[in-house]
Amino acid sequence: MSYYDWLQTEYTELEEAGLLRHLRTVMSPPTDVITLDGNYVVNLGSNNYLGLSMHHRVIAAAVSATYVYGTGASGSRLISGNSVLYETLEANLAKTKGTEAALVFSSGYAANTSIIPVLVGEGDLILSDALNHASIIDGCRLSRATKKVYRHCDVEHLKTLLAEPAGFRRRLIVTDGVFSMDGDIAPLPEIYEAALNYNAMLLIDDAHGFGVLGKDGSGTVSHFGLEGQNIIQMGTLSKAIGGLGGYVAGSRVLIDLLINRARGFIFTTGLPPATLAAADAALNVMRTSRNLRRQLLKHAETMKAALTNLGYTLLPSQTQILPVILGEPQRATDVAEALLAEDVFAPAIRPPAVPAGTSRLRVTVMATHTDSDIEHAIGGFENVRHLTCSE
Ligand SMILES: Cc1ncc(COP(=O)(O)O)c(C=O)c1O
Repeated sequence: MSYYDWLQTEYTELEEAGLLRHLRTVMSPPTDVITLDGNYVVNLGSNNYLGLSMHHRVIAAAVSATYVYGTGASGSRLISGNSVLYETLEANLAKTKGTEAALVFSSGYAANTSIIPVLVGEGDLILSDALNHASIIDGCRLSRATKKVYRHCDVEHLKTLLAEPAGFRRRLIVTDGVFSMDGDIAPLPEIYEAALNYNAMLLIDDAHGFGVLGKDGSGTVSHFGLEGQNIIQMGTLSKAIGGLGGYVAGSRVLIDLLINRARGFIFTTGLPPATLAAADAALNVMRTSRNLRRQLLKHAETMKAALTNLGYTLLPSQTQILPVILGEPQRATDVAEALLAEDVFAPAIRPPAVPAGTSRLRVTVMATHTDSDIEHAIGGFENVRHLTCSE
């Protein structure tokens, strides 16, 4: 008997519920086809949507920054780690987003868990979409504000909650722009209008819209023509930008306050020079790569039509994220394993990442998939469809 017996008990419980997670080893660059646990598979599980992590200009920028500035920042940004590369990148982000200023964090997770507790605290109210990302949920918890969850993309429900009298000091509406596990787009014009009517702040997490939607890929806010300072936009450099880091874009005063208050900004070491230079170069490629965006959305349409024709149940995504709903966790895992045997990797996503009963394959396409990658993947889905309940 040991004080640590509970570790095995909890592990076994996860196993019995079909919720165990394992690390897989990727032995190749994260491109359209990868070597996963030694198998060569078409990669339908990447957020490197535009393939920029392997772009020659991005790699060249990372390499030369390492030669000039070394491998690490060596300090937090407020002490000695505020490389000039940060300032170049933040100016570029603000330009891309059309805001007065921007601030880079170590990750998107760090950004959400840092920004929300600065915007609201005890005595304030957060209105959060039911399917918001875990980093938003954790940011809400850290803030100690009261949180009310509105039904997914249901603006009428949001307005009902906003209208409830309760004497809160400040109110914050927070939503994913493109939902990470569902691929649908938040109804921002209606949410923005509700925010204006009820004097609430609005924070958009554009992790999956950035690089994909809007003018020059600048994201969901631009997609709806809502550019300006009134919507606080956060996002990440780890998805379409192909690197690492989170950011927030907004007014100068917001950024200056975050520099002084955001704990996940203050109490951590700066990002490595290579990461900053790569993100800056990737932003420049992203803005001018309309063809990559077109190709990405064309592959998404092809894949969506083919999987629907094969009888799979897809959520109504409008983006590169295509959720194939399978229900119970074990079924999702079984189909994912069968697809691997067809040399296709599509990750099974299970609770708590998605609601119970909606375990799924989160299929994502990349602009750099070839037509034959897509055909091969569709063939794999055709061969395993007997494992789904839709036959
Ligand atoms: C919607 C959303 N927000 C935030 C994050 C966190 O970003 P990062 O991976 O850069 O920490 C993610 C990704 O995991 C995400 O999907």
